[in-house]
Amino acid sequence: MTTVSAPIDATKTPAWAALQKHHDELVSQGISLKDWFAADPDRVAKLSYDLGDLHFDLSKNLITDETVKLLLDLASELGIEARRDAMFAGEHINTTEDRAVLHTALRRPASDAGTLMVDGQDVVADVHEVLDRMYAFAERVRSGEWKGVSGKRIEHVLSIGIGGSDLGPVMVYEALKPYADAGIDCTYVSNIDPNDMAEKVKGLDPETTLVIVVSKTFTTLETLTNAREAKTWMLKSLRDAGVIDGTPEQDAEAIRRHFVAVSTALDLVADFGIDPENAFGFWSWVGGRYSVDSAVGLSLIVALGPERFQGFLEGFHEVDQYFVNTPFDKNVVALMGLLNVWYVNFFGAESHAVLPYNQYLHRFPAYLQQLTMESNGKHVRWDGTPITTATGEIFWGEPGTNGQHAFYQLIHQGTRMVPADFIAFVNTPNAVEDNGQDVHELFLGNFLAQTKALAFGKTADEVRAEGTAEWMVPARCFEGNRPTTSIFGVDLTPHALGALIALYEHITFIEGTVWGIDSYDQWGVELGKQLAKQITPAFHDDEALDTQDASTKALIEFYRANRR
Ligand code: F6P
Repeated sequence: MTTVSAPIDATKTPAWAALQKHHDELVSQGISLKDWFAADPDRVAKLSYDLGDLHFDLSKNLITDETVKLLLDLASELGIEARRDAMFAGEHINTTEDRAVLHTALRRPASDAGTLMVDGQDVVADVHEVLDRMYAFAERVRSGEWKGVSGKRIEHVLSIGIGGSDLGPVMVYEALKPYADAGIDCTYVSNIDPNDMAEKVKGLDPETTLVIVVSKTFTTLETLTNAREAKTWMLKSLRDAGVIDGTPEQDAEAIRRHFVAVSTALDLVADFGIDPENAFGFWSWVGGRYSVDSAVGLSLIVALGPERFQGFLEGFHEVDQYFVNTPFDKNVVALMGLLNVWYVNFFGAESHAVLPYNQYLHRFPAYLQQLTMESNGKHVRWDGTPITTATGEIFWGEPGTNGQHAFYQLIHQGTRMVPADFIAFVNTPNAVEDNGQDVHELFLGNFLAQTKALAFGKTADEVRAEGTAEWMVPARCFEGNRPTTSIFGVDLTPHALGALIALYEHITFIEGTVWGIDSYDQWGVELGKQLAKQITPAFHDDEALDTQDASTKALIEFYRANRR
């Protein structure tokens, strides 16, 4: 039986008490970013960081030198660096599942083979063995050497997975579309709602489609249901087209040419009928939401090519190295995690907006929702004791400028604090001019305008100077002091995207460690799964209906009365 050491209760540390006092003093003195900028000409330089091609400006956060010092004290009193090192070394920091947490090994270079033995396995060697197989497979598909059963080259990937086996690949595929140059497009199906599959296979030619079934456990209801449906669709379409004649041999050959799988459970993949030759494995020490850089990214390797995927992995690795080797007082990754704790626990922020000023990143907030909320939405600590403070803020967002015309009103003038990360890139692959105006600059002007308005606001005098009627002045004032972090990259490359993902993975780790929680389990999804199994028969079975609570029963009766 594993013995689990109790986490230090952050709220009982001297640093926590000092942060509380410091917060109360700042609030009572009146927080003013305008004054803080005026008083300290070095503020921007002090709070700016460079990490590879990403530039960070933290100066528009509600922090002073003293805040940073106290947050660093908290990190040191909680031993965060030691826990980080334990994670990278493969210790079983996922206590409730008794597992190592080693997504960082997925991006270590092949030259690191032999340096990380976990549970008797050479982890880096294993990673590269699978990567090499995936790269070889992807090259065959991209070059046209791999053919469908009718002899045509593959032009579409239909990827089936959910949660971590979907959100990462979709997000990255969307983000790196300009790099998808092999004439192969990807479609992702996740929902068990039949509408998802029905709409996604419309227009797909089965003869040129490769289905990738992605599931860490290979037991997930949605994925297995959809995979069976895809199998039926594929075989029926090929039979209808006269490509195969419906004999078991021809069916098996069609499946062999059109279905591959990604899983940690290769035995279950074989049971499903997928050739083990066409299966790519990963390991229990890769959490679903931390798996886009494992075999789960197979669709990306096919669409983007091994070289781009390698660049993606190198972006992650650069941030990993920085996170491990940079002292926390200069470590923007650690600081961003600590800042989130500052807002959640001392300002009572309930949510955190992530606002990409890049349309290609339109699925990034959704991806981050699973990463952060499935990791840190917990009510007990890693030893099972209750948490005495708030955890896991709600992450949300939409790309700018769309959000500006939707929910920014609340961030600017609402009664809640919503710390926000703005993410933008200097260059665009789609430069265009409108009436002599560079449209990308028009776009970036909006990113800068929003962070400026949120930080510095607009005073009553400024509003009056515009001739506004006095009664309307309050409605048109902006208090300012709404915290933002700006992340400005050079180009949205595979490398930069890998770096961004690793950044948020480690931010999530920092927050989870402060709260003393196991950020790598997800028991909160289990009850719903169990109940769904127990409830579903009640749509038809009276006995099962009778066991339901009154509300569920009434809803099922409504269903029964209206089902066509
Ligand atoms: O429902 C939660 C979850 O277990 C996620 O953590 C995971 O990413 C997703 O389901 C899919 O699981 P699998 O990859 O095993 O199909």
